[in-house]
Amino acid sequence: MTETKFTLPESAIPGRWYNIQADMPNPAQPVLHPGTGEPVGPDDLAPLFPMALILQEVSQDAEIPIPEPIRDVYRLWRPTPLFRAHRLEEELGTSSHIYYKYEGVSPAGSHKPNTAVAQAYYVKDEGRTRVATETGAGQWGSALALASRLFGLECKVYMVKISYEQKPYRRSMMETWGAEVVPSPSEDTQAGRSIRADHPDSPGSLGIAISEAVEDAAGREDTAYSLGSVLNHVLTHQTVIGQEALAQMEQAGEYPDLVVGCVGGGSNFAGLSFPFLREKIAGQEALAQMEQAGEYPDLVVGCVGGGSNFAGLSFPFLREKIAGEEIEVLACEPVACPTLTRGPFAYDFGDTGQLTPLVPMHTLGHDFVPAPIHAGGLRYHGMAPLVSQLVLDGLIRAEAYTQGDVFASAVRFARSEGIIPAPEAAHAVHGVLQAAANADEAGEQRTILFNLSGHGHFDLGAYDAYLAGKLEDVALADEEIERALEAIEALPKPAAGVS
Ligand SMILES: Cc1ncc(COP(=O)(O)O)c(C=O)c1O
Repeated sequence: MTETKFTLPESAIPGRWYNIQADMPNPAQPVLHPGTGEPVGPDDLAPLFPMALILQEVSQDAEIPIPEPIRDVYRLWRPTPLFRAHRLEEELGTSSHIYYKYEGVSPAGSHKPNTAVAQAYYVKDEGRTRVATETGAGQWGSALALASRLFGLECKVYMVKISYEQKPYRRSMMETWGAEVVPSPSEDTQAGRSIRADHPDSPGSLGIAISEAVEDAAGREDTAYSLGSVLNHVLTHQTVIGQEALAQMEQAGEYPDLVVGCVGGGSNFAGLSFPFLREKIAGQEALAQMEQAGEYPDLVVGCVGGGSNFAGLSFPFLREKIAGEEIEVLACEPVACPTLTRGPFAYDFGDTGQLTPLVPMHTLGHDFVPAPIHAGGLRYHGMAPLVSQLVLDGLIRAEAYTQGDVFASAVRFARSEGIIPAPEAAHAVHGVLQAAANADEAGEQRTILFNLSGHGHFDLGAYDAYLAGKLEDVALADEEIERALEAIEALPKPAAGVS
């Protein structure tokens, strides 16, 4: 049997983040000012974000250096381990090879600190003393509470009410690190008060909590707004995951033909998959250029240090040689909030209260309130513009699953590999189990890599409900989506967007 765990030394923590904007076949369309319909500029965003992050948001550089104080904090848990899921493979009886990158080893229990630490660093560096944010499942809030503590910032968290009630210990965690946490919709903001007046029983949503946090930050000079997903710079920060995974897959002597992640706003999925997509795009480019030249190489040469530039050029040719197959990238979402699989690509607000700029993305409409499924971090009406554009360009595919199926797969995973997945990450687990079963049925062997973005130690109430047979599957009627989409009818429309 080959190794189970592939680890890297601290010296292998990436020194740069990878910015996929430099390599996308079609750039993401600009974010618009809702008043003027014009693209927003750095000055529009300056009240909310540190300038360093605004510049990263629009940067076209492929690589952005990671400041040393951030890498120093990363040392607390990075590089994270990559596992070969031998026991899961045996349990499934699959001939496919399954690998997972485990981000649950961070102090907060998920991938979220990868960007929280970076954001807290830049807020502090610019001289602000406080951050405001929203949190769904509590993973993001925990991450920012931790990062704020490490850089000496105050932190206020608007926590989606249903999660606040379902996950009291996430709140304890944030408070232990010194953050102030309120259930959203709250009485602390105009946005929260008006939703409470109209819907006293609102379970809350990420869209509502974002409105509250943005209003809080916009109203105070000492405060920056901090978002745990969706924005370009957040996705870029997460690419430490995929860069490490590339090196670890090389250690394992394999290369994935399927890369899988769950999608809420898209950050853990992007973090794992973008460095692999970089290789796919580069290889496709080289293949296309050789075709232009009317020739096909019979010798492909590259230098090898860690091997990534060599892999970038040669793997697409190798894949043609071995199987004629392309690397496939799969995004997994809940049927209760099917942003990529059922939402149109449109301009929409990032929040319910219409305080944010207009974002080009797949969306279910900014006043869509998803059913209170246990994967709180996937209950977001929109999707990262970068992920949305890559879906339009056919580089990413999406599937949606019911929470009953997702928990069945999560329990199977826990009973073979030991780790209890966060309900969000369990969507990726389910996607992998399905892909392996499909491959076996087709008589194929695949090499599958997925992101186990967090552990579920604070989600055991959801596992209790599943084990007691009390988990409800929520069907989402077309009429509800149509109703929610009416809210964006009058907004500007993106250019066709398809390559
Ligand atoms: C463990 C975990 N995975 C995934 C997500 C979804 O967010 P994103 O799509 O930004 O990774 C969350 C969000 O809270 C989460 O806590």
